[in-house]
Amino acid sequence: MTSCGTPIELRCGITLQNRLVKSALEESLCKLGGSAPTPALVRLYQQWDVGGWGMIITGNIQVDSRHIGLPFDATLQSHASEKHGKYEENKWRRLAQAVPHTPLIGQLNHPGAQSTRWTFSKAPWTRNVSASGSGSGSGSESIRQSKTISPLFPPCRALSEIEVHAIISQFINAALFLQRSGFDGVQIHAAHGYLLAQFLSPGTNRRTDAYGVRCTILVQILRAVRSACGDTFCIGVKLSAGDYNNHSNHKQRSGLLMEDALENYLAIVNSDVAIDFVEISGGSYDSLAFLSRSQGVFFEEFARKIRRSVDGADEHHVHSSHANHPITQSPRLILTGGIRSRTTIDRLLSEQLCDMVGMGRPACVFPAVARAMVNNSEHSVDLTPYEVDSVCGVRTLGFVGMMCWVL
Ligand SMILES: Cc1cc2nc3c(=O)[nH]c(=O)nc-3n(C[C@H](O)[C@H](O)[C@H](O)COP(=O)(O)O)c2cc1C
Repeated sequence: MTSCGTPIELRCGITLQNRLVKSALEESLCKLGGSAPTPALVRLYQQWDVGGWGMIITGNIQVDSRHIGLPFDATLQSHASEKHGKYEENKWRRLAQAVPHTPLIGQLNHPGAQSTRWTFSKAPWTRNVSASGSGSGSGSESIRQSKTISPLFPPCRALSEIEVHAIISQFINAALFLQRSGFDGVQIHAAHGYLLAQFLSPGTNRRTDAYGVRCTILVQILRAVRSACGDTFCIGVKLSAGDYNNHSNHKQRSGLLMEDALENYLAIVNSDVAIDFVEISGGSYDSLAFLSRSQGVFFEEFARKIRRSVDGADEHHVHSSHANHPITQSPRLILTGGIRSRTTIDRLLSEQLCDMVGMGRPACVFPAVARAMVNNSEHSVDLTPYEVDSVCGVRTLGFVGMMCWVL
């Protein structure tokens, strides 16, 4: 029977020692304005590397050094001179070398409309970019409507087709760069309301050109990265199960509903691009579904829908529960969000709702939680002491990431 300690092979040939994945966590440990990894970031990854994880996904790495999400993001310098580029490469190589025991996947991202105003990577009045422009269907409509947080985000404009092509190239160059620096793979971030999610959502993609077909940009990126980096490089994608904003209900159809998300999933797995894994999450800055505090596995219903609709599911399920299974057509499925106990993990795996599970906040507080889960079938974590409603009266993400033990 599959349990969280059962190894699993990915299509690219990498075998994970267990089913536990450290999900992406935007560490904010780089330099102001976005930079290559710092010694603090390297120390953090050294701790995760010995934490017993099957795979480690980095926090989002911004592919465009002007458009970063938060001021201290890990960022690839898109306009670096050759000399500077070499210097940068050594820093990324140092990060990869800090993780010798675990497959390391770099999460590549462009924040689009969700680039905060004060990133110090661009002038605060510079417009953000998105699939569609401001006004109806802009990047993050309810952010703009919120008096508290809208000043944090500049308005956004629609990308031209030429700019879309340039962004696709940034993703390809970023993947090649990380491969050269010693990473085992990349995850293309197309969830949580960032730029690629803005293309994937009918609420934010009102384009009339080829990129108005929601998955076009993502499939083009995945195809180009596969072709550039080869079959043995791990390529994954993070997708949202829905936008979960106030508008994405059946009364006012403007966000990504679960059926749209299923369409996205199917368009990607049925495309001609072989990818290794899909991680499921959900929400955006409009509605932080992925940072919910509610008990339970946040996106289980969506995983069930996927399993029911893909593969004529049975063949996949039978094979995926074994360590030495034949590799099937579907990518491995990672379910992330709200997973806190070994019992839950074993249930999800035995019901074949996913092939691996992702953990975010538990990994902030307990870097070796994966080892504890694998070794102890009773193990669970309690994060309630770390959850806060507000800091100095400002509503927070509902959680204070405790990464200070690395500093
Ligand atoms: C501090 C923090 C930073 C995060 N940064 C990222 C990120 O860079 N990229 C991403 O895809 N998800 C990010 N997430 C979301 C997590 O990967 C994960 O989807 C979410 O925390 C739900 O999983 P959990 O309940 O196990 O924490 C972040 C979450 C937290 C708490």
